[in-house]
Amino acid sequence: MNVPITATIPRHEIADATLAAQGRKRIEWAERNMPVLAQIRERFEKTQPFAGIRIAACMHVTTETANLMRVLKAGGAEIALCASNPLSTQDDTAAALVHEYGISVFARNAVDRDGYYAHLNAALDIEPHQVFDDGCDLVNTLHTTRQELIPNITGGCEETTTGVIRLSQMAKEGALRFPMIAVNDTDTKHMFDNRYGTGQSTLDAVFRATNFLLAGRIVVVAGFGYCGKGVAERAKGMGADVIVTEIDPTKALDAMMQGFRVMPMLDAAKVGDVFITVTGNRDVLRDEHFAVMKDGSIMANSGHFDIEIDVAWLEKNAKSKNAKMRHQTDEYVLSDGRRLLLIAEGRLVNLGAAEGHPASVMDMSFSDQALTAEYLVQEAKNLKPGLHEVPTYIDKEVAKLKLISMGGHIDVLTPAQDLYLNSWEHGS
Ligand SMILES: NC(=O)c1ccc[n+]([C@@H]2O[C@H](COP(=O)([O-])OP(=O)(O)OC[C@H]3O[C@@H](n4cnc5c(N)ncnc54)[C@H](O)[C@@H]3O)[C@@H](O)[C@H]2O)c1
Repeated sequence: MNVPITATIPRHEIADATLAAQGRKRIEWAERNMPVLAQIRERFEKTQPFAGIRIAACMHVTTETANLMRVLKAGGAEIALCASNPLSTQDDTAAALVHEYGISVFARNAVDRDGYYAHLNAALDIEPHQVFDDGCDLVNTLHTTRQELIPNITGGCEETTTGVIRLSQMAKEGALRFPMIAVNDTDTKHMFDNRYGTGQSTLDAVFRATNFLLAGRIVVVAGFGYCGKGVAERAKGMGADVIVTEIDPTKALDAMMQGFRVMPMLDAAKVGDVFITVTGNRDVLRDEHFAVMKDGSIMANSGHFDIEIDVAWLEKNAKSKNAKMRHQTDEYVLSDGRRLLLIAEGRLVNLGAAEGHPASVMDMSFSDQALTAEYLVQEAKNLKPGLHEVPTYIDKEVAKLKLISMGGHIDVLTPAQDLYLNSWEHGS
């Protein structure tokens, strides 16, 4: 662990303190596109909802997350932040948080598995009252190796679909010992983050890594959920011929109604040029698919964990590997000479090879987080251990503030319309 230089520098474990000034510039750049969070911060500065509250957060250490941490700190919280993915940490952001903003951070890019968990544990050493998770690793650690901290915890928020799936399993088995709120499941998060954010930033990562022209090429998107929809729509918008693979007939039908071809992955594997998995499921691209893919096929995963592409098979069976032949891109040469390209080691590609979602997208997700954390301070005592929804008023408030910030305005119900919608006596 790095030793704090002065009493004002919080506990930390980061890569390079000299990057702090550069990180600050980028954090301030992101702040310009986070108007809703800025309004919340102004209010929190006055009301101090987190006075005396300690928060451990396990999230992607990006400029947008930095702005959420600043808002919580402005509201009086003491924070310890660690990374929710080893490849997504921006070392300059981590440095700025520690040395410019006085926030405790345990994260460095490309840390190994032991380092990753050491960071999680260091963040938990703050003995939190609240936890912010992105993938459920913090909650999982609390329920396995750090159970002594649980009595202190009032509740927390989960940011992503994969985390919500893990938490709902825990809740179903009665294993979850405090209330967690599924921030992922708000309309504002699903729409802005999973769909538009993942749509743009996933393709951004493919471009940064390969500089590949999508127009006229075949892009295979595995999974047509919120994220997959966004990726497929954006790829189509850039002139690609998009194929969708699914396991859910309703989602598959939706994809067909939007003009996408739908087929099993084994068929898509033979014709695709670029493959993007975004299912939250494992082994979506595996040996039988690698066996039929075209020479030069590009593969990327935008689902939360690095389980969607069987990278272990490639590592074991490829004849040779051209590591990092381009930005975050490894080339595997198979025994028959075909070359398969893998971006960001099969990890969350938009954070591994690009900068994650644009700040204006995270403005929504993190406003949901900030308001939910405030709600937890007041209401956690009334919530049972388990998985809970974000109250609708928070979702609507964030949508309203974002709409206004973008210059959009809506109608209000007339009294007659209000009555009509809220009574059953009025017929046609
Ligand atoms: N890259 C990012 O920035 C980002 C942002 C938000 C969420 N995520 C992650 O992306 C993943 C998907 O999230 P989502 O919100 O779209 O979830 P979702 O549940 O809306 O969609 C997942 C889809 O994948 C389908 N699917 C499951 N197994 C499949 C398989 N073997 N083949 C084809 N399709 C399959 C499901 O039927 C479903 O339609 C999760 O892991 C989530 O945590 C990533």
